[in-house]
Amino acid sequence: MARHLITSALPYINGIKHLGNMVGSMLPADVYSRYLRQRGHEVLYICATDEHGTPAELAAKEQGLPVDEFCAQAHDAQKAVYDGFALAFDYFGRSSSEQNVEITQHFARRLNENGFIEERAIRQVYSPTDGRFLPDRYVEGTCPHCGYDKARGDQCENCTRVLDPTDLINPRSAISGSTDLEVRETKHLFLLQSKLQHEVEEWVAAHEEEWPQLAASIARKWLNEGLHDRAITRDLDWGVPVPSDTWPELAAEGKVFYVWFDAPIEYIGATKEWSDLDPENRDWKSWWYDVDTDVRYTEFMAKDNVPFHTVMFPATELGVREPWKKVDYVKAFNWLTYYGGKFSTSQKRGVFTDQALDILPADYWRYFLIANAPESDDSSFTWEHFTATVNKDLADTLGNFVNRVLSFSKKRFGEEVPAGGEPGEAEAKLGEEIARLLAEYESQMEALQFRKAAAALRALWSAGNSYLEEKAPWLEIKTDKDGAALTLRTAMNLIHLYAVVSEPFIPATSAAMRQAFALKDDTATWITADEARTLTALTPGIPFTVPPVLFAKLTDEDLETYKERFGGGAA
Ligand code: MF3
Ligand code: ZN
Repeated sequence: MARHLITSALPYINGIKHLGNMVGSMLPADVYSRYLRQRGHEVLYICATDEHGTPAELAAKEQGLPVDEFCAQAHDAQKAVYDGFALAFDYFGRSSSEQNVEITQHFARRLNENGFIEERAIRQVYSPTDGRFLPDRYVEGTCPHCGYDKARGDQCENCTRVLDPTDLINPRSAISGSTDLEVRETKHLFLLQSKLQHEVEEWVAAHEEEWPQLAASIARKWLNEGLHDRAITRDLDWGVPVPSDTWPELAAEGKVFYVWFDAPIEYIGATKEWSDLDPENRDWKSWWYDVDTDVRYTEFMAKDNVPFHTVMFPATELGVREPWKKVDYVKAFNWLTYYGGKFSTSQKRGVFTDQALDILPADYWRYFLIANAPESDDSSFTWEHFTATVNKDLADTLGNFVNRVLSFSKKRFGEEVPAGGEPGEAEAKLGEEIARLLAEYESQMEALQFRKAAAALRALWSAGNSYLEEKAPWLEIKTDKDGAALTLRTAMNLIHLYAVVSEPFIPATSAAMRQAFALKDDTATWITADEARTLTALTPGIPFTVPPVLFAKLTDEDLETYKERFGGGAA
């Protein structure tokens, strides 16, 4: 069995993320990790907060906190939300860790030894008022392409073009607002990506066929535009310091690496953070170094992250000239929109992950988001769609089935799985259907087709309802008590099957379904095709309890409240 290394794009430290971030990276990575673990694979799911760069410094300033304190608090706040969503990371690290500093500096030294780093003097915006250089977002001004007057030094949010701070018209400091700015010469390290273009192309060519179309086409587009040499250092206080043994002058000037240089290296750094907590039993290098064949590495991210992960980080890894593990499969997502418009952290539009958990438990969100993941195209979040899905799939199809079966059986047969009756034609037909749908579910999960996997899961739940309607044990019991017992016992076997196979999507509800039955050995092993076909694993006499209602139905009133609070429809 392969060992699976799984990472999701590192959420940036400044602020709680919205549902769009969640569905495009961490949540599907968690669903996939849970599935693989249940199937008996060895899995390591690593994520971390991405903590360096100007947005962190600016957010800290806004809150009047030293940047390290701000990051420590913001990390804990994000982690609490992810715990609330039941994201089962093996480790959730921090890109400001000493492990990441060490590995990032090592990468830079090796790139330098191999001729892929060069020191160049560049012209940068300097603010005498602030007494410092103003990189990236520290400068704001008018976009030279579209005229938008709040463009930032690194990018124009309006036309999305990537900018250099010196491109801005009427620039001003984002710290003091000062327009007394000058351009000064300063030295920075450049990563000579142009020298690596050919190798990256070969590497992409060897992998893109297996990648989803979205990831492959974005990688191609960037390669076609050509890899440019890029400055990988900045004049900031907060970041991985340029190592003084290699660049004494730049280190003395306090230069640090650019956030996009050290952030992906944190996938490795966080694995070492994890390993350093228990070095006897955890070997970070066995996941990352010289392990091409036995580790399968899958990355999850939204489409804006694809160029960094398919082109730039691989270029870095290739240039290091050491056998670091490179990604095997890139699962990329389009955007989740809010009523067709943009979810926006800066404009506070849409639903944030902490607010979502205030309203309803994680399983409601997990199921809805994955069932509607923006896989082949953007998809839209609306409260109407959300409440309808919760009511139909979760409350009516799954929750109601579980409660109906267990309550009715308890009333008529007591609190044990009932005895009596022999499986007949209806059970054989059901078994075939369940085995077929289970195989479909498994193959969609293995293909990382989450919407299709959710559809197969929903079909499994529906098949139980159809069987129950057809057998109608509440009528059957009047004429054939044994027959009704068989029907209910078979339905209970379905509940147990649902508990197992729904776990990647709705782990808390799965646990509640599982715990309804007092099973001796209840380890989370998967359902075999044979068990699915016979549906007899739960034998007569096993005690059960009726769990509380699994999913509350959402009312029209709820819908109106949500829309009012979050501004539904006002795109
Ligand atoms: N923080 C980045 C973002 O929000 C993602 C960084 S992913 C990493 O887009 F690999 F670079 F860490
Ligand atoms: Zn613009």
